[in-house]
Amino acid sequence: MRLLVLGGTVFLGRAVARLAQAAGHDVTCLARGESGGAIDGVRFVTGDRDRPDGLSAVDGETFDAVVDVTIRPSHARHAVAALAGRVGHYSFVSTCNVYPDDATPGQRADTAKLHDPAPPEVDNPRDGQMDMYGPCKVAAENAIRDGIGADRVFLCRAGLIVGPEDRSDRFPYWVARMRRGGEVLAPGSPDDLVSFVDVDDLAEWLLLAGTTGLAGAYDGAGLPMPRSRFLTELRDALAPDGTTLTWVDQEFLVEQDVRPWSGERALPLWLPLPEYAGFMTRDTARSVDAGLTARPIADTALRTADWMQAFPQDVKAGGLVADDEASVLREWHVRSV
Ligand SMILES: NC(=O)c1ccc[n+]([C@@H]2O[C@H](COP(=O)([O-])OP(=O)(O)OC[C@H]3O[C@@H](n4cnc5c(N)ncnc54)[C@H](OP(=O)(O)O)[C@@H]3O)[C@@H](O)[C@H]2O)c1
Repeated sequence: MRLLVLGGTVFLGRAVARLAQAAGHDVTCLARGESGGAIDGVRFVTGDRDRPDGLSAVDGETFDAVVDVTIRPSHARHAVAALAGRVGHYSFVSTCNVYPDDATPGQRADTAKLHDPAPPEVDNPRDGQMDMYGPCKVAAENAIRDGIGADRVFLCRAGLIVGPEDRSDRFPYWVARMRRGGEVLAPGSPDDLVSFVDVDDLAEWLLLAGTTGLAGAYDGAGLPMPRSRFLTELRDALAPDGTTLTWVDQEFLVEQDVRPWSGERALPLWLPLPEYAGFMTRDTARSVDAGLTARPIADTALRTADWMQAFPQDVKAGGLVADDEASVLREWHVRSV
């Protein structure tokens, strides 16, 4: 198929372009070329989607499928105006942040309540308005669905995306931590649920959607699994012999100023409960039925570790540093006797 990737210079967009090229599709990526480079051998055209004519480099061309990763509603509106009538199928990579309810486990994409769309004056969450990320994605979803036609639009609401080229401090924190070995601070309860989706599994699903014409709203999120399984499988894949997990209560972590999810002093894939009990526990049975697959954790872990070793300059520092982790563990052992 002729595929247009709106993006393609980083992480998920690059994975879509790489896998599409490998599958023999005719791929064009359109971006500014500021965030990174395109995949070798893939056609790359320059365009700035901040401008209404940002897609002029592909004027007059037709595509069987589009994959769009934008976070800005205006980008979506410009793309629809430029491409409507010239594309067969449109996949929009949205996010599970479109859902306002973070607390209720087992929500489904086809029935869960959505945020109201961002008002027209709010267009770029990265301008210090990350609380408007979900509403901006809702506005972009609406623009694409209404402009292209619901029967040709796949709204893929991604959960946490992990794997090679992930420049966040989330999954890579755990990869680096397991590689270091020793006594690993495991947050919360072993039974708490986590979920994530491998970037290549998500990219494969986007390609499948383009070739089969999948339409509708789905969650691109992994099956929830206990955090004990996640950390144990990661340890078995990456850690030196003798590496142990010490489970530390969330109340104690909060008391010690250990922070959730990402950033300084954070333990990623850990969120306060019960407030976030619905964040990594979505019901993704429909997505699995529609072709979303999940590879073994060890595969994701090893590919991510290889990438982190090959491109250390792209790995974002963050999370609980070694000395702070050791100090929290010392305190925990003192309290536990
Ligand atoms: N990471 C996660 O865990 C996660 C979770 C849920 C949902 N998501 C969603 O998943 C998607 C991830 O996409 P991604 O990994 O490819 O990364 P991304 O950081 O969202 O990439 C944005 C892409 O758009 C291009 N772009 C940005 N501004 C542009 C402009 N003005 N004109 C033209 N192109 C522009 C960028 O290239 P240039 O800068 O080179 O132009 C880049 O290729 C996003 O939609 C994100 O919201 C991510």
